[in-house]
Amino acid sequence: HPLLCFQRNFKALDTDVLLASVPKSGTTWLKALLFSIVNRVRFSVDQSPLLATNPHRLVFSLECFYYAKHDNPDLGNVAQPRLFSTHLPHQALPSSLIESNCKILYVCRNPLDQFVSERQFLLKNRLWPDKPYGEVLSFDEAFDMFCDGVQAFGPFWDHLLGYWNASLENPDRVLFLKYEDMKRDPLLKVKKIAEFIGLPFTEEEEKAGLVGDISRLCSFKKLKDLEINKNGVHYGSVKNNSLFRKGDIGDWQNYLTPAMAEQMKTILEAKLSGSSLILDI
Ligand SMILES: *[C@@H]1O[C@H](CO)[C@@H](O)[C@H](O)[C@H]1NC(C)=O
Ligand SMILES: *[C@@H]1O[C@H](CO)[C@@H](O)[C@H](O)[C@H]1NC(C)=O
Repeated sequence: HPLLCFQRNFKALDTDVLLASVPKSGTTWLKALLFSIVNRVRFSVDQSPLLATNPHRLVFSLECFYYAKHDNPDLGNVAQPRLFSTHLPHQALPSSLIESNCKILYVCRNPLDQFVSERQFLLKNRLWPDKPYGEVLSFDEAFDMFCDGVQAFGPFWDHLLGYWNASLENPDRVLFLKYEDMKRDPLLKVKKIAEFIGLPFTEEEEKAGLVGDISRLCSFKKLKDLEINKNGVHYGSVKNNSLFRKGDIGDWQNYLTPAMAEQMKTILEAKLSGSSLILDI
């Protein structure tokens, strides 16, 4: 199984950067930003590979790509610093990764928006049409499961808390980001990410406006409107345009009742109590 192979066979390098998230929490955006920040000397903004390549083809998933194709893929040729992504909870990361000095960027999102986004994504992409679980659940059924913590990659709150706790224990190794904060002040977060991975923007770069240029290049609207992201599929059945739906904060209000939102808030209050993690829902 890809997850077990990833856990057993992956050998982390201290220079690796891992992007971790629950699906539909801003992964595509972070991939675009991370790639652009790391490769800003290699490619100018107007020559960026992002203009012609989906972000998921520039930063690949360990379990959905490399280890899905091969039990022990050769990752020696991946350009360094190697950029990878994963949806695994912190508790399930390979020990090689935990023990290394690699950097982990985590992005989380308001769970109500994440739920709606994931549901729309599944409705748009019939990922497993030939499997019994390929059927998309009814809205209420799906919400009940979400509240019970029945989710790919484990309960939402455990996923967040695993990385949150790790970021408190080891702030130099794990950077915990919130999608909503990034939306509110992308420039601040772009600078923060660059510093965290050890590639801070120089004064000259800042003066030349590179931080803003990278934020604009990776903005939702810019990427959504690119030809490459409008049509076609990748990974066999994921429609390219399904990765760019709305990217709004609070879109859940168009789908969930206030009672459903209250239910989730109550659950989260209980699950996050005792931690210092606060989600603004
Ligand atoms: C995170 O830390 C809190 C507070 O110390 C603790 O209650 C919780 O069990 C930890 N959760 C995880 C998933 O590590
Ligand atoms: C969809 O994305 C894949 C992966 O980036 C790319 O190879 C393909 O060309 C894209 N489709 C279109 C029509 O642009």
